[in-house]
Amino acid sequence: MRKMMSMTTYAKDIQFVTEIISILLIASLVASEPPKFGYSGSIGPKFWGSLSSNYSLCSNGTLQSPIDIAKDEAKYNSSLENLQRDYANTNATLINNGFNIELRFQQGVGTILVDGKKYSLLQTHWHSPAEHRINGKRYPVELHLVHKTLEGDIAVVAVLYEYGHPDAFLNQLKDSLELLETETRRGYEGARIPAGVIDTKALSRATRKYYRYIGSLTSPPCTEKVIWNILGKVRQMTPQQAAALKAPLLLCNRNNSRPLQALNGRTVNLYHTTLSA
Ligand SMILES: *[C@@H]1O[C@H](CO)[C@@H](O)[C@H](O)[C@H]1NC(C)=O
Ligand SMILES: *[C@@H]1O[C@H](CO)[C@@H](O)[C@H](O)[C@H]1NC(C)=O
Ligand SMILES: *[C@@H]1O[C@H](CO)[C@@H](O)[C@H](O)[C@H]1NC(C)=O
Ligand SMILES: *[C@@H]1O[C@H](CO)[C@@H](O)[C@H](O)[C@H]1NC(C)=O
Ligand SMILES: *[C@@H]1O[C@H](CO)[C@@H](O)[C@H](O)[C@H]1NC(C)=O
Repeated sequence: MRKMMSMTTYAKDIQFVTEIISILLIASLVASEPPKFGYSGSIGPKFWGSLSSNYSLCSNGTLQSPIDIAKDEAKYNSSLENLQRDYANTNATLINNGFNIELRFQQGVGTILVDGKKYSLLQTHWHSPAEHRINGKRYPVELHLVHKTLEGDIAVVAVLYEYGHPDAFLNQLKDSLELLETETRRGYEGARIPAGVIDTKALSRATRKYYRYIGSLTSPPCTEKVIWNILGKVRQMTPQQAAALKAPLLLCNRNNSRPLQALNGRTVNLYHTTLSA
């Protein structure tokens, strides 16, 4: 009998210790989560640099993005090469990050070749209104295709959209976007929807013109030395498609566009097929 009692107490102690450990674990997970940022108020772009020491480049960096691209000042560079994009159709997940909508590919979607180095496509996400401007003009939506090397170097291909005919790439995400909005309304922040196998044909089209400059991620931690490639060809989507990309986001993040950053003497290079020999 005594032995049984002490066993029970022992079991309770174990349970108590286990609970404490799991509470501490959860607390440490919460603590190590990167601080929340947004697009308005006290966590808006002006304050990103002070939200965390990891975000300091957002305020003191010198190679920040986005920028306004002045067409006349972009320098044709004959050593730039066709942005060879070689993507396969791949299974992907649509994620609501709260501050943007991201389509994350499972490994192996494909690469682009930049200065002889291969960068793998990891994810695409959208900003609305667009972040980069051309001669001061701001388009309604910008798509970012984020690529990385194994060493962690980043190259982004940016596609600007004006309103017009439906975008085929987004069309295949219509149902997933609606599901994502429903999930978010139910309160599932960070909701994820399996988007199935994504046809990447629309992303692999040949590029006749792009602008290249060295910049940064346009959201915290604002990491620099990102190789930006802004396609010259402006694509189209319907206003309904643009609205569907905003709908699942937190209200304060529906305009998820970072303001323009100083050029600080950077040169924007131009690649154009009809100008090459
Ligand atoms: C900064 O990032 C590192 C690596 O991700 C992390 O270990 C650290 O906790 C972060 N610091 C802050 C203040 O968020
Ligand atoms: C920005 O500030 C951080 C923290 O104060 C510092 O470590 C870093 O060197 C600074 N970077 C630049 C480019 O000034
Ligand atoms: C032209 O492009 C090459 C390849 O990216 C680069 O190394 C070089 O610095 C560029 N030249 C100028 C003048 O920007
Ligand atoms: C795609 O991913 C989902 C979720 O991870 C999985 O259930 C499904 O089997 C995958 N489909 C293919 C064709 O790989
Ligand atoms: C977003 O910006 C547009 C103009 O570009 C404005 O009409 C709209 O009210 C803004 N929405 C929010 C939620 O700030």
